[in-house]
Amino acid sequence: MIKLFRKIDEFKEYRRSLGQTSIGLVPTMGNLHSGHLSLIEESSKYNEVTIVTIFVNPLQFGPNEDFDKYPRTLEQDLQSIDSLSIEKDILVLAPESASEIYPNGFSTTISISGLTEKLCGSSRPGHFDGVTTVVYQLFNITKPSIAYFGQKDFQQQLIIKKMVRDLELPLQIQTMPIIRDESGLAKSSRNQYLSDSQRTEALELSKKISTIRELLQESSFIDSQISINSILEETLRDERWDYLEVLDSNNLQSISPTTNEAVILGALKVGETRLIDNQVVKII
Ligand code: PAJ
Repeated sequence: MIKLFRKIDEFKEYRRSLGQTSIGLVPTMGNLHSGHLSLIEESSKYNEVTIVTIFVNPLQFGPNEDFDKYPRTLEQDLQSIDSLSIEKDILVLAPESASEIYPNGFSTTISISGLTEKLCGSSRPGHFDGVTTVVYQLFNITKPSIAYFGQKDFQQQLIIKKMVRDLELPLQIQTMPIIRDESGLAKSSRNQYLSDSQRTEALELSKKISTIRELLQESSFIDSQISINSILEETLRDERWDYLEVLDSNNLQSISPTTNEAVILGALKVGETRLIDNQVVKII
């Protein structure tokens, strides 16, 4: 059964009535696609109740970003969840206004240092403060046993895990694999901004990451380092690329002799649309 809440107070009252049952949380900004739905399916497999939050969080958008045009498709989202035919309860919390999440006078920021400063953090200043602040608030309101995040936003899930560890928040974080379309393009609500030719152009992102992953799988990091560095250098000469890096997947530091798993992360601007993607690979 799906139950929709637009008011935090009504949601909180219902949440209290659930008591201690196992609750999975899937935080989203809506416009649900198969990536989001995979998180909802996983949560409902292992929890009595799944809470899906749908909130386009103003705090995580920069002044020149797509907050206004971000697709808001609640009716369609409810239908997509319904089409999963999940028998357990799904609570959809879609606050009717930002003041439901940030009441008048709200003035707290949750800010994690270190991990937030590179990659998307340097191209989108303040973005991760917006993410951690809203996610902390959503954890407090929904009180889940476990929350599900996508590997698609690799840096984001690592930052959330760090926040949970640092603040000893009483929940687990589960990261789920990236869902892609047949062409290899990672599913994203922003893909709908792309024209047909831009969709083809966007494939450069996953292809470049795959090329580096194959190099890392074929030989040791030391042996592949020279060819990888020349790919990175050459790619980044093209201004459409925001970043393309190979880092330690545990901490986003440079690869060191103790690194056992690497992550290749890229951000590419296709027209006005900025897309991100990544792949993890064991270091041999
Ligand atoms: P949003 O972009 O809507 O994504 C919600 C969740 O779905 C995130 O955990 C994201 O990593 C995951 N996701 C997106 N595309 C995916 C894909 N192709 N495969 C698997 N999972 C995918 O991320 C956010 O919203 C926001 O920053 C949020 C955490 C909700 C805070 O506002």
